[in-house]
Amino acid sequence: MTTAEQEKRVAAEVAADLVEDGMTVGLGTGSTVAFFVPVLAARGLDLRCVATSPRTEAAAREVGLRIERFSTVAHLDIAVDGADQVAPDGWLVKGGGGAHTREKLVAAAAARFVVIVDSTKLVPALRPPVPVEVLPFGLASTLRRLAAHGPVRRRDVPRSPDGGVICDYLGPVGDPRALARKVRGVLGVVEHGLFPPELVSEIVVGRGASAERLDLRDLRGARRGEKRQNALIGPPAPPPPGRP
Ligand code: 5RP
Repeated sequence: MTTAEQEKRVAAEVAADLVEDGMTVGLGTGSTVAFFVPVLAARGLDLRCVATSPRTEAAAREVGLRIERFSTVAHLDIAVDGADQVAPDGWLVKGGGGAHTREKLVAAAAARFVVIVDSTKLVPALRPPVPVEVLPFGLASTLRRLAAHGPVRRRDVPRSPDGGVICDYLGPVGDPRALARKVRGVLGVVEHGLFPPELVSEIVVGRGASAERLDLRDLRGARRGEKRQNALIGPPAPPPPGRP
């Protein structure tokens, strides 16, 4: 097993321990989630799960997890997913597997969204590619309007399970919130892979044989003046001049 695989597994194990009997659980997509699914199943809890991709659904069913259709589940207690990039301020890029639209919907439905990554996913600042799912109807015209913000390439992969075309924005990211707003504002775009820190509860980072758990809810508390601070995120920004 490579170091990255070991880190994914250890992060997955930490996340599986956060799940409690009777919970509704969102299952992400990717190689890190592939470690999470069997570890979760091995706990033998009574769970109702939703899956963000056919691949995850098949893997979960295989180890005996109960999968429900997300169209009938209004609220999840917890969702666990990987990420392609994690910035120091908690912004993520997701969608390396083209599942970011479903992954964002599942994360948004969850009271607690836990991101599990190996340490190679920590980056000083988000960078391209940023995945973008686009409606097939009007694709050429949507891509032309998207290209006004930066180069975009259609990915050579099958359509998403919802029929969307998977593309990658290849221009500079800069301020992720501003880019997210611009890309989201292009008619025909279904969703992009920029995940804001508000969506994230915790990030579990595998580091060698152990894992570090970073709580973004603590960071939000720290911004409100509470004392706790977050190792990955660093201390809260100083108040603007003139304010106590
Ligand atoms: C799929 C995703 C994955 O979570 C992301 O690509 C990370 O994958 P992996 O765990 O294989 O590194 O967003 O759409």
